[in-house]
Amino acid sequence: MPMKQVLFVDDEAKVLEGLQRMLRSMRREWKMLFANGGQEALDILAKEHVNVIVTDMRMPGMDGQKLLMAVAEHYPEIIRIVLSGQSDQEMVLKCVGTAHQYLSKPCDPEILKDTVNRAFSLRGLLANDSLRRLVSRMTSLPSIPALYLELTEVLQSPNASIEKVGKIVSKDMGMAAKVLQLANSAFFGNARHICDPADAVIYLGLDTIKALAFSVNVFSQFEQSDFSKFSIDEFWRHSVATGAFAQRIAKSLQFPEKMIHDARMAGLLHDVGKLVLAANLPKPYEDMWTMVQDQGIPQWQAEVEVFGSTHAEVGAYLLWLWGLPGPIIEAIAFHHSPGASPEQSPTPLTAVHIGNAIELEMQREGDLELASTVDLEYLTKLGLVSRLPFWREILRQLAGPLTSEEALHET
Ligand SMILES: [Fe+2]
Ligand SMILES: [Fe+2]
Repeated sequence: MPMKQVLFVDDEAKVLEGLQRMLRSMRREWKMLFANGGQEALDILAKEHVNVIVTDMRMPGMDGQKLLMAVAEHYPEIIRIVLSGQSDQEMVLKCVGTAHQYLSKPCDPEILKDTVNRAFSLRGLLANDSLRRLVSRMTSLPSIPALYLELTEVLQSPNASIEKVGKIVSKDMGMAAKVLQLANSAFFGNARHICDPADAVIYLGLDTIKALAFSVNVFSQFEQSDFSKFSIDEFWRHSVATGAFAQRIAKSLQFPEKMIHDARMAGLLHDVGKLVLAANLPKPYEDMWTMVQDQGIPQWQAEVEVFGSTHAEVGAYLLWLWGLPGPIIEAIAFHHSPGASPEQSPTPLTAVHIGNAIELEMQREGDLELASTVDLEYLTKLGLVSRLPFWREILRQLAGPLTSEEALHET
């Protein structure tokens, strides 16, 4: 296998020398390239096959944002990381629509190594080349139109409260994923594990949220007209319900607080790959949907036929690229095939798998044996199969009030 190549870009020679020294121990694993500015970086990219680019923001001539825009356009597969000083916050915010991850200068060597290594370990998650390029181009996800409107209204009102904003963001996949990405980055959030979007909103502050909505435009509305076979309302309903179900199951498994939050978040985000596929590849998405209906096969199976990968893999790849916490990524990646996960004890994945399957059972009335997609072998291995009837019962009770607006606000 060819060596992984990482390109570091900074206008200060001293910073590049410092990085070289700091990363000496990695030289057997990575081939490191150094460029003194944006133009030099592009010259290197034209000749070398680079996997990850780590760039400063404030540089004379071509700055970091322009460089990353060029990289995103011409080399979409390259993973784009910003390494910048805290005084450049405004500049970094501008590139929220172009970069995948954000690090703060001076950077702890371990955080830098981890971030780059994580980026390398991604590739295996999504085998299909063109899908990988497509997902890597995506730096934001469309929002539910009603929630997007609600957010912009609240932000424009003179008495916008951070709690109100947090509640709206928590209900929307696109906005929730984005604030979690930023709050969990070393630049904006000090690499803490933040799994509640309302906390992420408080951490980032109202000004940053306003910038995301109005000047950087990473929050945008989903355009329904493009996709006749994809109902954003139904997608949203299923996602919110699965989030609430996963949280309830996590509580009944007596998970600690942090894992309960992870389960809820992963439940909300578990099908995010469907949104990526439907929004970017509407025609193949329709073909896939026709296949599901004509042949009566599960959606993930039709996706493998049409796209070469499933929505679970696509969603996990995107959010891993964005640096979301590991347990959330694992739950998304394996929500249809929990037995394939390396983790074989109860985790947020367990809660999301069961929550999703029971939510689908409730939608498809009829023979439970036929309709159910619960992986009984997996649950048996975890010693949880006998609890299934109890979960079906409590989730059925939960599903009633869930449709009311108030329940959606409940955390
Ligand atoms: Fe799914
Ligand atoms: Fe689902």
